[in-house]
This record gives sequence, structure tokens and C-alpha cells, in this order.
Amino acid sequence: MSEKLYIFDTTLRDGEQSPGCSMNLAEKLEMARQLDRLGVDILEAGFPVASQGDYDAVLAIAEEIRRPTIAALARANEFDIDRAWAALKGAAKPRIHTFLATSDIHLKYKLRKTREEVLKMISWAVGHASSLCQDVEFSPEDAGRTDRSYLIECCHAAVEAGATVLNLPDTVGYCLEPEYEKMFADVKAGVPGIEKVILSTHTHNDLGLAVANTLAGVRGGARQVECTINGIGERAGNAALEEVVMAVYVRRDVEPVYTDIHTEQLYAASQLLIRLTGMVVQRNKAIVGRNAFAHEAGIHQDGYLKNAITYEIISPETVGMPTNHIVLGKHSGRHALANRYKELGYDLTKPEIERAYELFTRLADRKKNVYDEDLISIVNEGFEHIPELYTLKLLESVSNSEGRSTATVELERDDQSYRESATAEGPCDAAFRAIDRITGMQGTVTDFSVHSLGAGPDGTAEVCIRARFQEKEFFGKSISYNVVEAAARAYLQAANKGVYEIRRAAKESASCRSSVHENELVDRLLPGGY
Ligand code: KIV
Ligand code: ZN
Repeated sequence: MSEKLYIFDTTLRDGEQSPGCSMNLAEKLEMARQLDRLGVDILEAGFPVASQGDYDAVLAIAEEIRRPTIAALARANEFDIDRAWAALKGAAKPRIHTFLATSDIHLKYKLRKTREEVLKMISWAVGHASSLCQDVEFSPEDAGRTDRSYLIECCHAAVEAGATVLNLPDTVGYCLEPEYEKMFADVKAGVPGIEKVILSTHTHNDLGLAVANTLAGVRGGARQVECTINGIGERAGNAALEEVVMAVYVRRDVEPVYTDIHTEQLYAASQLLIRLTGMVVQRNKAIVGRNAFAHEAGIHQDGYLKNAITYEIISPETVGMPTNHIVLGKHSGRHALANRYKELGYDLTKPEIERAYELFTRLADRKKNVYDEDLISIVNEGFEHIPELYTLKLLESVSNSEGRSTATVELERDDQSYRESATAEGPCDAAFRAIDRITGMQGTVTDFSVHSLGAGPDGTAEVCIRARFQEKEFFGKSISYNVVEAAARAYLQAANKGVYEIRRAAKESASCRSSVHENELVDRLLPGGY
């Protein structure tokens, strides 16, 4: 009989702590809501001791998201555990997740502790966490490279001290599948009382084996898997949730487990994470990549058209991926739009529908057919939490074959219009420079990509931009019929985020320095007096 496999999502902890993936509080909450819709069983909301932002995020998620268990990470010491508990204790189902490295490499070079000292720390930390919270997970960090008999001793200490979940991380992504599977079998066989706890996998993708190792861990007896949306995470990332879930789903004929994930929410979760972090996935990414369901070769297309099962093991609908059919045109109303979003897995609020409708009509005015992909991009572009200080009213762009381009941009801020022109090597750069002249902030574009949505003359350009303003990088994304316009809008979105962040940082620092009047300081710190 198939057993339940618990899905532990760590997108907001292991994922978020990796470079280029940080999110603010509102963004973390939005992601947490989607993870809830997706049906994850445990949601690791952060590492409260790492920063005030992490603490606040765990607190807010614990308060709002009531269905799944909410976990928070803590090192194996009193301060971390108490801080995690302070953030977590309002949760409907809280879990403290404490960890300590157990491999000799970590003991010698990082912790500078003996095996006996580490064993004592585990007993104490798990015991302390259990005195606060009924649900305690313990992770022997770098379990994959830990001496097996010592690992068993550490796991025994944790179980005796009250751990309810034992997670065996392959922290550095070093294990091969048979080794990872055997570690579970050995711990299962060697730790007295193991039947009272759930064993968990936690794998990293340094050798590209994270998902395979996760499945190997399940074969070894794990009934919880730790993973992240799109596989984001430290270095090469963690096991991708969507891949693990779909492997278990598609191969339910051989896998001994099932999950309670609503698979039709996977694509929306993936897209939301991309929008929030700017970490795009490669086109051929399994399950959620743009090409994951595209059939190009003639023989494949022929077979597919005769019967989809010839070349398709999962239908795009199963993971909520939109197909390319025409959905709406310029005469479609709000109701049709809201319905289509529902079908695509987006449960939009009334104000969100209004915003989506505004962007949809802008697009439909210039493009005969609006596709599912356009609708998803609209949501991804239009639902920024950052207030749009500047909005684009007009863009004129002239280029010549000598390589010089001129752009004139009109932006609106607080009902006032500002117009500037600039000349540069290319039309996009000219538009960015004109925007800089108005905002008073000089941006440097660090990443720029263009994708076409839809084929032929009816295709739309989707532009993703990363731009640095005052040492910080911001992400912007937009779609338009016109590539230069999409680029200008994406750049402006990043600039608006820059302005917002600079304002927020200035206000925070003003409130710490009561001798200076807040607005005075804000004015002084901001270019152009925002
Ligand atoms: O990779 C790892 O070991 C971790 C632990 C904190 C679980 O992320
Ligand atoms: Zn990890």
C-alpha cells in the first residue's frame, strides 16, 4: 500500500538564502500563500536568527498561513532556538528545526569540537527545543560525509531527546544514489526508537543528483522530502519540488508513496518565484521550463498529433502550464478574464483583476489574440508590491544604421509629467538613459534577456532586466508588442524598486537617528529628493 510522502518546502529558507534569491516580507508572504495553495505539508519560513527580516517573515507567515506546519531553522544553541520559537509560537502547527554538523571535516575545521562535545550539544539542543515545541526536527549537517556509526549515535541522541523528525542532509551534494539510500537504511536499522520519528531527505545538486538522491532516500525509508520550487538553493541548488512530486506522481506504479500536492499549481508557483526573485529557469527545465512540453522534431509531432501518449508522459494541464491556444481578444470582459485566470490556477482578488484587466486591454488593443502565456506575464508584471512611483506615459525611439539611437521618454509621478531625451548606442540604452535623467538615479544593467511569447506576427516580447542602482540590484520584467517598450518598462520597474528601497532604507536609518528630522535625512540621502 502506498504511503504518504510529506513535502517540506524550504524555498523561503535554503532557497531564499542563496545569491540572487532574496525576497522582502511582502514577497515572502505572497510566495507562502502560493505554497499553501500548492498543498505543501511543511513550509520552512526562514532562519529567524539570521536577520530581523527573517524573523519578521517567520512571524508573519506563522500568523497567516494556518494549514501547513510552519518550520523555522535554528543552530543547536539556546539563543537561536529561543529566537526561532519566539517567531513561531503563534503558528497553528509550529516546528523548530535545529541542526548541527556531524562530519569530522566540519567538527575539525568549522566547529573545533570533539565528537563527544557535539553529541552533548545535540541532546541539549533537541531537549530544549522539545521543551518549547512538540514538533522538533533535527538535522546532522553534512550527514552524507559523516562516519556512519557516529551518525547513528547522533541520531539516537536526537531521538532520545525528543526529535520527531530526523533529516539526513547531503549538505554538499556529494553522495551517489546507492550511498544516500543506504544511509537511510542504516539509520533505520541502527537507531533504537526510530519507528517513532519520520526520516527526511535534504539534498543539494552539486553533482546534478539532488532529485535522484531524494528518490533514493525515499526508497531507503524517508517519508519526508525537503525541496524548493525551481530547485533554488545554496550553490547548485536543492532538489526541485516540482520534479520530485511529478516523479512520484508519474511513476506511482513503482514508487511506494504518494503526495498531497495539487500538481496543477506547480507552474504558477514556479512563475511566481521567477517574478519575485528574477531567477529565471532554463527553457528545457523539467516540468516548468518553457520547452518542457514542446515537440519540435517532425516524427515527434506526427506521433503526438496521432496520440499524445506517444511522446508525452505528463500533460501540460497536469502541472498548470498554459497551452498556446487563443484565449481572449479585445472584446473579452473582466468576467472572462477572471475565469481564465482561475483555470490557470490564479485566484485573483478584485483589485488584482482590475489591474490585470487594465494591462490586458493595453495589450489587446495592439495585439489581436492574447494567449495564456501573455496572461501569466501580465500577472507577473503587474502585481508588484512596490508602488509605481513613476509610470511610463510615452516612449519615442529613433535608431539609424550608424548605431546611434535617440529616445524620448515621458514619465508621470504624482500627476505631474516629466519628459527627457537621451542618445546612446542602442535604442534600449537610450531609453534607459532618458529614464535615468528623470529619476535622477544612474542605473547599470547587469542582465538583459528577451523571450518571444507566442509565434509569428502575433508574438509578444518579454524582457527581463536586472539593474544596479546605488550598489543594489533590482529585477524588472515586462511584455509588449515592441521590444524597446518592454525593455523600458522592465527597466522602469527595476528603477521604481530601487527608489522604494532607497526610501525605505533612508527612513529606517532616520528612525535610528532621532536627532535628525526623518524627512530631512530622507531628502539628504535620496538623489533627486524622493
Ligand atoms: O544543507 C543542509 O545541511 C541544510 C541544513 C541546515 C538542513 O540546509
Ligand atoms: Zn541545505
